[in-house]
Amino acid sequence: MKYVIALDQGTTSSRAIVFDSEQKIVGVAQKEFRQIYPKEGWVEHDPMEIWSSQSGVLAEVIARTGISQHDIIALGITNQRETTIVWDKHTGKPIYNAIVWQCRRTAKICDELKQIEGLNEYVKENTGLLIDAYFSGTKIKWILDNVEGAREKAEKGDLLFGTVDSWLIWKLTNGKVHATDYTNASRTMIYNIKKLEWDQKLLDILGIPKSMLPKVKDCSGTFGYANLGGKGGHRVPIAGVAGDQQAALFGQACFNKGDSKNTYGTGCFLLMNIGDKMVRSKHGLVTTIAIGLEGKVEYALEGSIFIGGASVQWLRDELKLVSEARDTEYFARKVKDNGGVYVVPAFVGLGAPYWDMYARGAILGLTRGANKNHIIRATLESIAYQTRDVLEAMQEDSGIKLKNLKVDGGAAANNFLMEFQSDILGVNVRRPVTLETTALGAAYLAGLAVGVWESKDEISSQWKLDREFTASMSEDERNKKYSGWKKAVKRSMAWEE
Ligand code: G3P
Repeated sequence: MKYVIALDQGTTSSRAIVFDSEQKIVGVAQKEFRQIYPKEGWVEHDPMEIWSSQSGVLAEVIARTGISQHDIIALGITNQRETTIVWDKHTGKPIYNAIVWQCRRTAKICDELKQIEGLNEYVKENTGLLIDAYFSGTKIKWILDNVEGAREKAEKGDLLFGTVDSWLIWKLTNGKVHATDYTNASRTMIYNIKKLEWDQKLLDILGIPKSMLPKVKDCSGTFGYANLGGKGGHRVPIAGVAGDQQAALFGQACFNKGDSKNTYGTGCFLLMNIGDKMVRSKHGLVTTIAIGLEGKVEYALEGSIFIGGASVQWLRDELKLVSEARDTEYFARKVKDNGGVYVVPAFVGLGAPYWDMYARGAILGLTRGANKNHIIRATLESIAYQTRDVLEAMQEDSGIKLKNLKVDGGAAANNFLMEFQSDILGVNVRRPVTLETTALGAAYLAGLAVGVWESKDEISSQWKLDREFTASMSEDERNKKYSGWKKAVKRSMAWEE
């Protein structure tokens, strides 16, 4: 038997998952790592911890499954996107912590950029994104402006930038390869997704030397070789790379125009494949590269929701209302409805379709009878409402009316959430047997490159339904609940300004 290992470097944990050639999961190892909050609204990771946790779980899963290194024929990498790392190319040491996608420290830089005439339009037209602290560009600028000596070093060509995939490729290849893939590049706000090159105008505005940037490659193909057994050990090709949301789109076999998926991870990301022509959103979504194969790219419309499953972690870790995330389903069902309570989890501002860097979380509609169960239920419901916000925008932009929505990610296991999701959207929600579609997507990309799988058709035929949720809520009730949500969101906006 031959195996493909997917490295899934997420926002809160690093995972390694072994797939056999029949796409079955043979083993999983996972390690959480530190979330560093130096100031309000700032989020960092230690790049060395990202590396040690990721290489640790890789070694662990190989040891635990007992597979021979020689039977591992490819590695795939998928990762939290946008998170920005800058390191010294001579020492291999990061010059600052990784600035995480959720970090709001560059909100003011973004405000200034928005004042430059025509820049909003330019960014939308050429990167598919909009000016927001979410994306990597302003994070790189912040590091160059704030770490002593960084700008001079960068100008001398001594520093390298990478999203987490690049960092892992660099570490796995012992500093030999500095590369990324089209999907991760498309999240930086400095990559031109029409010309498929780094955008010189944006680099000049942000003061980022081109010499820092990784080579952008196809998602499926050899990036370099990882030495599994240390020096002289077995060399395995890193053969597939994609940002986690695009990997999930691929893992869900969303290969045709109009195919969509929603991943309920730390955040919640709804992506629709829109084919090989870039379509610009008019309703607050972003356009991003869905996949790059054989030098050609396909695009996706994306609704990026910053807080999805993370709100359940907040119930567990901060409010201590549940001891395990899955208990939320039990408590949510203990009340017949939300009791008028709405939770807006705008902890790090709001992403699509609102794009408000200054929004903050809120609990609204509390009455004397509101209890813990209502808050838990309202938190789960907020994930579904945010999904409706982006789904509506997506339907408007694409002109495609969705009949059903494929879902995945950890929180998709929550039946209450999936039922409510279907109710509030009025469309069927289709949950596959494998919820690990992000890792599966990365494994597919790597496996396609080395011939484990022949074609996308073979992959499509493997998609298996676990459960389909159908809407049972009346139109009236759906609209009433949703308008309560819209009112609540409004109250949470522009809080920090
Ligand atoms: O854009 C951020 C996204 O890639 C993070 O994904 O899975 O950590 O929620 P996740």
